[in-house]
Amino acid sequence: MQRLRHLLGTESLTAEQITFLLDEAKPFQEFQRHPLKKLATLRGKTVALAFFEPSTRTRISFATSASRLGADTMNLQAETSSLKKGESLLDTVRTLDAMKPDCIAMRHSSSGAAAFVASHLDIPVINAGDGMHEHPTQALLDALTIRDRRGSLAGLNVTIVGDILHSRVARSNLHLLAKFGCRFTLCGPAMWLPREFEGLLGDIPVRRTADIDEALQGADVIIVLRVQQERMHEPALPLDEYILLYQLTAERLRRAREGALVLHPGPMIRGLEIDPAVADGPQSCVLEQVTNGLAIRMALLFLMIGTGTESGAPKGTSHAAD
Ligand code: NCD
Repeated sequence: MQRLRHLLGTESLTAEQITFLLDEAKPFQEFQRHPLKKLATLRGKTVALAFFEPSTRTRISFATSASRLGADTMNLQAETSSLKKGESLLDTVRTLDAMKPDCIAMRHSSSGAAAFVASHLDIPVINAGDGMHEHPTQALLDALTIRDRRGSLAGLNVTIVGDILHSRVARSNLHLLAKFGCRFTLCGPAMWLPREFEGLLGDIPVRRTADIDEALQGADVIIVLRVQQERMHEPALPLDEYILLYQLTAERLRRAREGALVLHPGPMIRGLEIDPAVADGPQSCVLEQVTNGLAIRMALLFLMIGTGTESGAPKGTSHAAD
């Protein structure tokens, strides 16, 4: 498999590449259970983290993944950086690049920001979320979670509920899962179900409905999204109404296939888009998703900036202290 130069989205990945990445993540899943979580695989390498938007799990997950592989991190604090003084995105990332990191994981509020940076830097760029466009590592960790629980990604009925319009997670998941023949139902208030999605996947039909009971019928996987108020001029409908119409409750979940999986990329607003009983219930994969994020990001960093001479991830579970 040819080395990935950048990871900007899942749209351009093939099913074969995705399967390869998920397989490569397997030993790193095992590794998270090890009492000593430190490898020397990427010792001497540096991962730049440039998060121009708030982030908890994605940023910490990249930092922890780099550290567990033995790499150092360079951390841009967007709130306190020169961006606040008017420096451009390009000047900021060129400044980071001049300190010679081996790759950059970046998040930005503009769709296309990661591709723009990738076209100007020589080091690999990993998109950790660009505006409303893509969030490929989230889709990969979701796919790993689903594949583990279901055994395969092939032909699943996937229902996505909520604020789909503003969701890069929805786009990346659609692109990825479509490659495995999944069927999609998008559910939410009409203004959050963009028509654009109908043509997004070429010939693959994407069903849209404002009726959650209909959307959940026969679902194997349900992806619940956060209401992204920070990306809206005004909410599509009052939040109490949203709760009544779209909250995933235990009762509604019964309409889905038995044992249907419930995923949420986080941050999760309990009591708004999801009932706590579902969030903490046996069908919820929320915390598994977080743990799998480490495995996916470790595998990616290993594959993208490893020199190829290390003993490797799988075998590279030889410890730094060894
Ligand atoms: C998502 C994001 O930032 O796109 N969060 C995440 O990375 N896990 C989803 C969200 O913010 O709602």
